[in-house]
Amino acid sequence: MNKKTLKDLVLKDKKVLVRCDFNVPLDKEGNITDDTRIVSALPTINYLLENGAAVILMSHLGRPGGQADRKYSLLPVAKRLSSLLGRDVCFEDRDLVVDDEVKASAAKLKPGDIMLLQNTRFRKEETKNAGTLAQDLASLGDLFVNDAFGTAHRAHSSNVGICEFLPSALGLLVEKEVEVMGNALKEPKRPFTAILGGAKVSDKIGVIENLLNIADKVLIGGGMTYTFLKAKGYNTGKSLLEEDKVDLAATILEKAKDKILLPVDTVVAREFRNDTEFFTVDADKIPDDWMGLDIGEKTGDMFADVINKSKTIIWNGPLGVFEMDNFAAGTNKVAKAIADNKDAISIIGGGDSAAAVEKTGLSKNITHISTGGGASLEFLEGKILPGIDAVDDK
Ligand code: 3PG
Repeated sequence: MNKKTLKDLVLKDKKVLVRCDFNVPLDKEGNITDDTRIVSALPTINYLLENGAAVILMSHLGRPGGQADRKYSLLPVAKRLSSLLGRDVCFEDRDLVVDDEVKASAAKLKPGDIMLLQNTRFRKEETKNAGTLAQDLASLGDLFVNDAFGTAHRAHSSNVGICEFLPSALGLLVEKEVEVMGNALKEPKRPFTAILGGAKVSDKIGVIENLLNIADKVLIGGGMTYTFLKAKGYNTGKSLLEEDKVDLAATILEKAKDKILLPVDTVVAREFRNDTEFFTVDADKIPDDWMGLDIGEKTGDMFADVINKSKTIIWNGPLGVFEMDNFAAGTNKVAKAIADNKDAISIIGGGDSAAAVEKTGLSKNITHISTGGGASLEFLEGKILPGIDAVDDK
């Protein structure tokens, strides 16, 4: 990695601005339902504190659209952080994120102090990476650390713009994400299997094309299966279908027929809900009026067999509608097969696949679960992530 990291910074008596991704899920009452992203930020925060710095944390939460909407306040994050760290976190709840009062409080910070700013997306300039927000943020400290892997695919003021105004480095979480996923793509232990699910071919085309160049096998499931089955000339009934991607799916199949494994059977349902009639059919026998919502048992076994023999496994996207219990079996089987293969390096792209693994209770057996959904997808597509690119080179 040619980017500066925490070890390249002199931290004693410095005020360090840290961009985290505290975009955590909240329930209707505003309680955090999964604090993985907060827990994942602790190593960097603790490192900075132990090395004599004061820490100023910043993040977005949701998409408040440039308004100071308290539904998206970082207050629940401040409370959770404080209890996880076992120390006070001074939460600066300001409409403008940075104002004169915040500047005055930041000026008084001492080594070991922690401040959390309000949601950076309360200011319109954040997502446009324009205006004075980046400069306002930078004025609070001496150094900038980007530890927000989940936001690394965005070029915003608080992760990219700010790098123009302060010396910068990557945090420990971003360093780990890039190292584990980067090594798997660069020098995978073989056989290398990629499992790709999710609803649409159009969302996954970049990652399919990139991983077809690197992986030994690419297993396809999820809603996009049916566009591929259509490309093979099969009837897909009422299953999800991207008509305009059928030709593309056919071209991909033609190019990589030895590498791609498509479902050989599928669970079909009458309607898109859990308590509906359903049964399993061979992939070439989907009846009219029925929709495929999960891979079938034969496919699950076939995929598990490939996974068992793999030394590197990357998984992005659920294989069925796993939120509905009747259509979660395929996703669960694959999650279990990955977790059971203790000899392999296993990497789960964030978002839905991470949630699916968490749901099985097997996440501790996985080598790396990314904290980025969109960001990990773009990384696996081989794209340069602007949030990482903007940080100072060594
Ligand atoms: C995510 O959850 O993927 C990141 O926090 C980015 O959020 P965004 O899609 O609203 O930019």
